[in-house]
Amino acid sequence: MSRLTLVLLLVMFPFSLAAERAMPGLHSAGVPVDGGQSCSLCHNNLGPANSDLTGSLTVTVGDYTPGLQQLIHVRVQHPRASRFGFQMTIRAITDETLEAGTMSPVLTSDPVQVRCDDGSRFGSAAPCNGAREFAEHMNAPGSDAGGGFDFAVAWTPPANELGDIRVYVAAVAADGDGTAAGDRVYIVVKSISAVGGCTLPKRPTLQTVTNGASFQQQLSSNAMITIFGLGFQVPGRTRGVGLGDISNNAFPTTLACLSVLATGAGIPSPGILLPLAYVQMDQINAQAPIPPGTGPLNLTVLVNAGKPNELRSDVATVNLQTFAPAFFVFPNSKSIAAQVGGSSQIVANPAVVSSGRPAQPGEVITLYGTGFGDTNPAVATGQLAAGAAALTNPITVTIGGTTLPSQDVLYAGLSPGSINGLYQFNVRVPVSAPDGDVPVGIAIGGFQTQSGTTIPVKR
Ligand code: HEC
Repeated sequence: MSRLTLVLLLVMFPFSLAAERAMPGLHSAGVPVDGGQSCSLCHNNLGPANSDLTGSLTVTVGDYTPGLQQLIHVRVQHPRASRFGFQMTIRAITDETLEAGTMSPVLTSDPVQVRCDDGSRFGSAAPCNGAREFAEHMNAPGSDAGGGFDFAVAWTPPANELGDIRVYVAAVAADGDGTAAGDRVYIVVKSISAVGGCTLPKRPTLQTVTNGASFQQQLSSNAMITIFGLGFQVPGRTRGVGLGDISNNAFPTTLACLSVLATGAGIPSPGILLPLAYVQMDQINAQAPIPPGTGPLNLTVLVNAGKPNELRSDVATVNLQTFAPAFFVFPNSKSIAAQVGGSSQIVANPAVVSSGRPAQPGEVITLYGTGFGDTNPAVATGQLAAGAAALTNPITVTIGGTTLPSQDVLYAGLSPGSINGLYQFNVRVPVSAPDGDVPVGIAIGGFQTQSGTTIPVKR
């Protein structure tokens, strides 16, 4: 290769790059689950992002009201910069791989576009129909040196409260030389909450605390429990736990600005916060602790938990037993939440769950319940059960009047991968079980699951 060709190639290289890319690739906004790259991947010869304090990136976004559009302002400036670019994406912390809401340019004449993540490098044009969205500059606009640039993006948040949302923005304050050199990169991540989420105006009130499966009064340590009352959440908003709420393999102890404090039963002061699975205006699904003792357990619901405007309910005292066995049942039925063993096929009459089917005699099915006490290994309250953890106490399973022989109870313990208040039983339906809704019960330590629960059987 002659020296001239080499020089030509070196000179041409940036231009061929320039021709290839008129905009940054998607996934340049610094989101960890996207790989964490930002504009600094290429624009980096003046140092890492946010290292030049004479420039700045200011993102103006308020807490969100579900479904209500707001304008987000992205202002980039640096005294020596004359061209500007940005990329922004918005994610719910419950699952940062999913887009939260939708974005669009404010005016069609604005140098802003929204691209959809379709797996390709630069994505496709909006509307994105639920795919991840990236708002970004178009044809890097300029201003006189020092003037900076203010990009505006219209954002419509999700229709439902999704907990906290993160707004990721990466921006370039460029020197306008048409290359990736000589430019400064700034990154901002802003967390916003739902309006009303942490401004609940009234003290919550408690009505009853029940077993989370049977909705009866029996409670035990480690069991899923349901708290009924009022003022737990803005009416109409619900919040179930999402993947992003789980950290260190444990369920959160604050969900939608709410916590439940437990004291008594030997729990050291100042008490512990219960793991939470679900919150709505009048209901909380939580997990009872595994306290050093049994007996009276005091529960207090805290809204705006941990904030200056925190409000506490009166104390509800419940009695904690060693066992409070109960089956989860499908809504408005006595039909036990059950699946065909090793599959996702639901066992239920189609009238109860449309995708369900009856169990067959001799088939292995999985029944779900709570309140069955200690397991080996023990798993701490709120933790996900990593694998099998069998009950340490013996049980008796009865299906259709037949007590199952031990070889037909294939597994009795925590449900692997779930919160450890959820127990599962892999049992073989007796060959003698008649067709129809057959009664099923489990006894442990002198306690019995709630009466009347059934599974449908059909040969
Ligand atoms: C894969 C490498 C790469 C990434 C990532 C990248 N850029 Fe660039 N950028 C370039 C190159 C190369 C140029 C010069 C050629 C051009 O303008 O297309 C450039 C030019 C620019 C310019 C004009 C610079 C000037 O001095 O005139 C702006 C503004 C810009 N990029 C913004 C961004 C922003 C904002 C991001 C992140 C969201 C980003 N870029 C991410 C490679 C990249």
